[in-house]
Amino acid sequence: MAESDKVFAGSIPKFYDTLMVPLIFEAYVAVLAQRVCASSPGSVLETAAGSGVVTRSLAPKLNADARYVVTDLNQPMLDYAASRQGSDSRIEWRQADALDLPFEDASFDVVCCQFGAMFFPDRVAGYAEARRVLRPGGRFVFSVWDRIEENAFADEVTNAVAAVFPHDPPRFLARTPHGYHDVARIREELSRAGFADIEIETRAKVSRAASARDVATAYCQGTPLRNEIEARDAGLLQLATDRATQAITNRHGQGQVAGKIQAHVIVAAG
Ligand SMILES: C[S@@+](CC[C@H](N)C(=O)[O-])C[C@H]1O[C@@H](n2cnc3c(N)ncnc32)[C@H](O)[C@@H]1O
Repeated sequence: MAESDKVFAGSIPKFYDTLMVPLIFEAYVAVLAQRVCASSPGSVLETAAGSGVVTRSLAPKLNADARYVVTDLNQPMLDYAASRQGSDSRIEWRQADALDLPFEDASFDVVCCQFGAMFFPDRVAGYAEARRVLRPGGRFVFSVWDRIEENAFADEVTNAVAAVFPHDPPRFLARTPHGYHDVARIREELSRAGFADIEIETRAKVSRAASARDVATAYCQGTPLRNEIEARDAGLLQLATDRATQAITNRHGQGQVAGKIQAHVIVAAG
């Protein structure tokens, strides 16, 4: 993973929350929240919470006296999340690396993480850290994207942007968000971290946007793909976005567009 892959700062939080979240992240929130709430947890830790799409959905579903600690590596994402959340005394916001959690052993009933594990530089260490802070009987609920070929817009944007930089194509989307999809490997790494009961479900959904430009802007400007493009030539960010827009229009047409997305939803315990 490149260093810039984990930097969600500058203009990224706003584009991420306003364009990326409705495009692909909102679709999986209910699936995750349902699994988190299945045991009526009294305490929940969310890692890699980003701009707070899970937090906004999950908080109203938790018990009135539940403790909900919401964390992310990047303070700008957490600030964005907190600014969108209504006042809720149960929520504690805290900057934290999922691989080095500032919590005592056995502190939470559930640890949840939507589309964050792909960013962990060492997944076994990240899973072991989640397990360390879980109480006996606790559950780690998380999701990761399936391979890029199962996620239409991400694949099309990656190919279109590659054509702008043919000698050094930006590969963020394939390398990181869509680079950790092998379920056998996920099982094996969870086992190495100490989890004994592992359930993995693969879910396909449809991603929709008002226009091809919204999709292109979301991926090119609301994710660390932006960091990769700007590192090559900041003056080409708009051209890369335009080329991605054209590729999506060619494939999905003018006006509203829809494309397949697919992810793995995982519950690990024991
Ligand atoms: C694709 S976003 C997912 C955000 C959110 N969970 C959602 O569903 O919209 C990935 C998030 O992982 C965070 N992240 C990256 N590396 C991390 C780490 N080591 N520990 C905690 N969070 C991390 C990023 O800051 C970013 O907010």
